[in-house]
Amino acid sequence: MFLSFSRPLSVIQAVIRNLFHSLAQERGPYMRHIKRTFIVLLTVALLLYSVAYVSDFNFKTFTFPQAWLNKVINQINYTTINSTLAVHTPNDSLQIQQRGTTVAQTTDIPVYYHVAHPSNYHFILDEPDKCKQNPFLVLMVPVAPHQVDARNAIRRTWGNESSVQGKTLLTLFLVGLTGGPEAQQQLEEESRQHRDLVQSNFVDSFNLTIKTMVIMDWLATRCPQANYSMKVDSDMYLNLENLMSLLLAPNTPRQNYITGMVMWDRPVIRDKSSKWYVSEELYPELKYPTYLLGMGYVFSNDLSKKLVEASKVIKPFNIEDAYVGACLKQLGVEPSSPPDPSKFKAYLGQYIREDFFRVITTILGSPQQLIDIWKDVKRPT
Ligand SMILES: *[C@@H]1O[C@H](CO)[C@@H](O)[C@H](O)[C@H]1NC(C)=O
Ligand SMILES: *[C@@H]1O[C@H](CO)[C@@H](O)[C@H](O)[C@H]1NC(C)=O
Ligand SMILES: *[C@@H]1O[C@H](CO)[C@@H](O)[C@H](O)[C@H]1NC(C)=O
Ligand SMILES: *[C@@H]1O[C@H](CO)[C@@H](O)[C@H](O)[C@H]1NC(C)=O
Ligand SMILES: *[C@@H]1O[C@H](CO)[C@@H](O)[C@H](O)[C@H]1NC(C)=O
Ligand SMILES: *[C@@H]1O[C@H](CO)[C@@H](O)[C@H](O)[C@H]1NC(C)=O
Repeated sequence: MFLSFSRPLSVIQAVIRNLFHSLAQERGPYMRHIKRTFIVLLTVALLLYSVAYVSDFNFKTFTFPQAWLNKVINQINYTTINSTLAVHTPNDSLQIQQRGTTVAQTTDIPVYYHVAHPSNYHFILDEPDKCKQNPFLVLMVPVAPHQVDARNAIRRTWGNESSVQGKTLLTLFLVGLTGGPEAQQQLEEESRQHRDLVQSNFVDSFNLTIKTMVIMDWLATRCPQANYSMKVDSDMYLNLENLMSLLLAPNTPRQNYITGMVMWDRPVIRDKSSKWYVSEELYPELKYPTYLLGMGYVFSNDLSKKLVEASKVIKPFNIEDAYVGACLKQLGVEPSSPPDPSKFKAYLGQYIREDFFRVITTILGSPQQLIDIWKDVKRPT
């Protein structure tokens, strides 16, 4: 990046030099000396400016996936099915806690530390027997306790599919702590009714990295026999036939396999005003390792245990999907591009029924939209 700039820079330098050279000739040797110093300073300033410009340019060109997603989602134009679009909230991030004063600190910058390792949490609501049916695929949906509409829409659509292509499927929701006893009671009632809620004792707000690792923990401890798992957001459309075709294809690895929408070379945002800011203390590298966009990634279930292990040594940061990428890197597992990357779509434009036959995932705007689209896609042609 910098190299490409050094050439135009030296051109600018030469131009300035020429300009002052002619000036110096007009005004004599004394001025010439001053100008030379000035040229050096000006060059240094230009150099610094161009470095700043390059890094700025960098951030603008490769905007962070979620920022990009928000932007992209706003352009969606559903015409046949009317709904308002809920964009991924920027608050899907983990609250970082300040560790007690560190002695060896040489600067005033506080060190942030937070433990995402699931051993710090326990399950309040659990479904330990759900896996006795030996599911081929487990769909784990992180969702906020109050998002009962989202859960109900999933229960009426892809969450209600217990068998696809002869393989057993299981859908569970993962929530954290509710706001109070009343909400907790409601949640427990819902749990008794549907038996598909898993609740862990972390505060369900800004703690998405914890949530993801708790999902991995549940899979590793309650469902190690499952062949594959998927972490899928509650606002997603899921085409299970296509997903199963992918997983049952002879070439699909059965271990150390993870796929979805692959993110390469994403820069870590150091702009403190950004929603996706991550400090150098939390994540010192300039770029994230290759990772899968958090909306929905599917993996061979051996990875759930391995990811939990890796999280012991990977310091958490608030970008949950990139955090999983960091754990994968630690494990030496390279995310796989899907055989057909166009099947993991962040969004589809205007509603076209046939598009939904082709994809595996795409983001939707509301629970009602999931129900409407599901009905329309499933209707006899
Ligand atoms: C969205 O839909 C409206 C009405 O159908 C249309 O006028 C507009 O051009 C569309 N915008 C995009 C970006 O497709
Ligand atoms: C969509 O639905 C909302 C209420 O559900 C309504 O106010 C709005 O006019 C509708 N928009 C269109 C384009 O039908
Ligand atoms: C996001 O968090 C900020 C405070 O950090 C808050 O003011 C805002 O209302 C939150 N937005 C949503 C959508 O929760
Ligand atoms: C789930 O599907 C079954 C049929 O397979 C149906 O009887 C049941 O009502 C569905 N449940 C929901 C919540 O839609
Ligand atoms: C989760 O986030 C909240 C703030 O929203 C914070 O108070 C809490 O300590 C975080 N961590 C856990 C483990 O709940
Ligand atoms: C799924 O995993 C079980 C072991 O848990 C194994 O026996 C079976 O062959 C696997 N099925 C497929 C299709 O990979």
